Amino acid sequence: MQKRKLGNSNLEVSAIGLGCMGMSFSYGPPKDMQEMTALLGAAVERGVTFFDTAEVYGPFLNEELVGEALAPFRGQVVIATKFGFDLNPDFDPRGMKGSPGLNSRPEHIKQAVEGSLKRLKVETIDLLYQHRVDPNVPIEDVALAVKDLIQEGKVKHFGLSEAGVETIRRAHAVQPVTVLQSEYSLWWRKPEAEVIPTLEELGIGLVPYSPLGKGFLTGKIDETTTFDSSDFRSTLPRFTSEALKANQALIDLLGSIAERKQATPAQIALAWLLAQKPWIVPIPGTTKLHRLEENIGAVSVELTSDDLRDIDGAASKITVQGARYPEKLEQMTGR
Ligand SMILES: NC(=O)c1ccc[n+]([C@@H]2O[C@H](COP(=O)([O-])OP(=O)(O)OC[C@H]3O[C@@H](n4cnc5c(N)ncnc54)[C@H](OP(=O)(O)O)[C@@H]3O)[C@@H](O)[C@H]2O)c1
Repeated sequence: MQKRKLGNSNLEVSAIGLGCMGMSFSYGPPKDMQEMTALLGAAVERGVTFFDTAEVYGPFLNEELVGEALAPFRGQVVIATKFGFDLNPDFDPRGMKGSPGLNSRPEHIKQAVEGSLKRLKVETIDLLYQHRVDPNVPIEDVALAVKDLIQEGKVKHFGLSEAGVETIRRAHAVQPVTVLQSEYSLWWRKPEAEVIPTLEELGIGLVPYSPLGKGFLTGKIDETTTFDSSDFRSTLPRFTSEALKANQALIDLLGSIAERKQATPAQIALAWLLAQKPWIVPIPGTTKLHRLEENIGAVSVELTSDDLRDIDGAASKITVQGARYPEKLEQMTGR
């Protein structure tokens, strides 16, 4: 598996990582622990060295799974986790009732890190992200708390998720930010306007989450697909059957390029991200070995400048329908 460096840092990971969220959270009930443990081991065997989890996935279950499954591979893999939510008893991950409770107060960050270290069974967290910017805590205070944790040897690298450019700059001035993790894919290209140029200027890597459009860009979802109420996608405007139908033009585009390259739509969606910048590392999520293999196969799909021009030209004529998040969750991004 090819490797990539995240920005100007010395953090080197497989060119495609593995998003672990869906193994325990967000896309229906948690999956079988033993099967997921085997899948994580199979990913390492196939050269994946970058794994993404968060305290809030479960909560806690996903970190426990990743910690246990990757324990035999300590030192060979990079595990990223995230803090930033108040996981009190009425915590609502979808933010549908009340607030999903952001909390990035320094004492809370330090407490969260102690829990993550235990569950991940590590002495140092390779990459620690703030999951969402907390408007009640100056980002300088967050960066200072992470700086302390780095000095104590509990954390190696600092990351932000869905932060706006001013926040990125302010944080970076206090404690260099290694990575920004934000949604980026053929159907969410907002980071291209301000975020990506800022990351390039500051030498910060980009980890696109939901690089397969939460499954849509694989071509395996259409307007007849239904989502269980425990599946987060049942709450998303972009996953109503009308939006899925309207957005099928994107799948037609990916399908035609896939045919030309003898690849799959999922591989084209990932190869397109890899072709944007050499410091981009997508983290597709899957709970199935054959899909993991398909997704990592994207590193061998090389899109030429003609391919990229064709994709951009065709994509610019498609207006994606449906908001990516309900209003309340969208407000938590870009701050
Ligand atoms: N920072 C943040 O706020 C944030 C937000 C969301 C996600 N994330 C991270 O990013 C990771 C990836 O994002 P994501 O899981 O939301 O979306 P994604 O990677 O775009 O898509 C995952 C979905 O696609 C399906 N899938 C994967 N590969 C496939 C293939 N080759 N063919 C057909 N279907 C395929 C998966 O189902 P199966 O499991 O059935 O294969 C799953 O439902 C997460 O695991 C998480 O670690 C971070």
